[in-house]
Amino acid sequence: MSRLVVVSNRVAIPGENRAGGLAVALNAALKEQGGMWFGWSGRTVRGDSGDTHETVDGDIRYLTMDLNRADLDAYYNGFANRTLWPLLHFRLDLVDYDRSTREGYAKVNALFAEKLAPQLRDTDILWIHDYHLIPLGALLRERGVGCRMGFFLHVPMPSSDLLAAMPNHNRLLSSLYAYDLVGMQTRRDVERFQDYVRLFGGGKILADGQMEAPGGRKFRAGAYPISIDTETIARQAEAAVNKPAVRDLQASLDRRGLAIGVDRLDYSKGMPERFRGYERYLEKHPDQRGQLTYLQIAPVSRGDVTEYQALRQELEQIAGHINGAWSEPDWTPLRYVNRNFAHSTLTGFYRAAQVGLVTPLRDGMNLVAKEYVAAQDPKDPGALVLSLLAGAAYELKEALLVNPHDLDGVADAIAIASTMPREKRIERWQAMMAYLRENDIHAWRRNFLHDLQNIPATG
Ligand code: G6P
Repeated sequence: MSRLVVVSNRVAIPGENRAGGLAVALNAALKEQGGMWFGWSGRTVRGDSGDTHETVDGDIRYLTMDLNRADLDAYYNGFANRTLWPLLHFRLDLVDYDRSTREGYAKVNALFAEKLAPQLRDTDILWIHDYHLIPLGALLRERGVGCRMGFFLHVPMPSSDLLAAMPNHNRLLSSLYAYDLVGMQTRRDVERFQDYVRLFGGGKILADGQMEAPGGRKFRAGAYPISIDTETIARQAEAAVNKPAVRDLQASLDRRGLAIGVDRLDYSKGMPERFRGYERYLEKHPDQRGQLTYLQIAPVSRGDVTEYQALRQELEQIAGHINGAWSEPDWTPLRYVNRNFAHSTLTGFYRAAQVGLVTPLRDGMNLVAKEYVAAQDPKDPGALVLSLLAGAAYELKEALLVNPHDLDGVADAIAIASTMPREKRIERWQAMMAYLRENDIHAWRRNFLHDLQNIPATG
């Protein structure tokens, strides 16, 4: 079996706290095949970027690279998170395009290529992740790397007209042509990418998912919806009900129902709209007032980026307004919490909630929606309110699907979810859970790696 080399901005070194489902899946793949995970060390240093650090765990090597403040600002805070992130989430209004951050992004990708190229053998399978590292494959090819290369985009691929609005779009996006397989979350993402290749990228679509770049190189794209470790989360959630934090939450509800949202503090997650949708629910459904408490957990994310700071202020203002307007002496309708919790504790919170609120304005997939389902009590599951604009909506069809911009629709869905009869909830939950058992995170990585390994050699 070929050695697997994974590259991503964040590296999930065992024992470090950021390990989510993706880390579990990729570490499992690395364990099966042996290999290496390469990425940013998470550290900012004085002096030059580029020092590397190695940790070995059995057959897996973790290699990470330091960046200095200027490079991190240009590459991560700048081009990745102020240009690409809003663009890929359809937010042209928030895109900040700046030549110097674009150059910083190119420089850091080139540094990744410089450090990684000497490590690679032609028999390796290389799997690069996400929008931080789009040009890396092409930069490695320039250095003569000939191994199989796959790329997976964790975020949406927007409409081609939006992509075309970015200066120099072709230079960045045509670097995707250097991969053998480009994976995306949904069929729609693949279709939009194909539109781009055809309309603006100078390439040809040979067949669905098969493309030819302007120079004649053939490559493929396909939908590989990412998922969760379904069984582990179900088990964790069952055990988590005994955790003090979960018991305390339950006791504090005083027999009221709980609605929960868990999101990084990011404008793509639609939290201001969700807060307003909840307020609309309080207005429109006076009979239910006081019966449902909404807990929003929103750990601060990318706090150095202006738009994220502005969002934080906006949410504080709306949360204050809602609680000022609707609280009773013995009830606070909205609990807004900026800290993070252990993943296993979150699964207990999900299980304690009758309503899961997942209403992003755009999301590549959204794994909170899937985890909420997996964490439920099979005998008394909660109901999921899910945005139509999240990739997860293509799979979790038995959720209450809403348009996150339609506040009345969100309000009504909350009312329906919190009063749905148990048999109906069980029926919907069973269908979603059966799907998630079959299509878990391990199936995701196996499918992608199987396809990457088995596509016929390309020119
Ligand atoms: C999204 C991206 C990931 C990223 C994560 C957390 O899910 O697709 O690549 O790692 O957000 O964001 P952060 O900027 O903290 O890595």
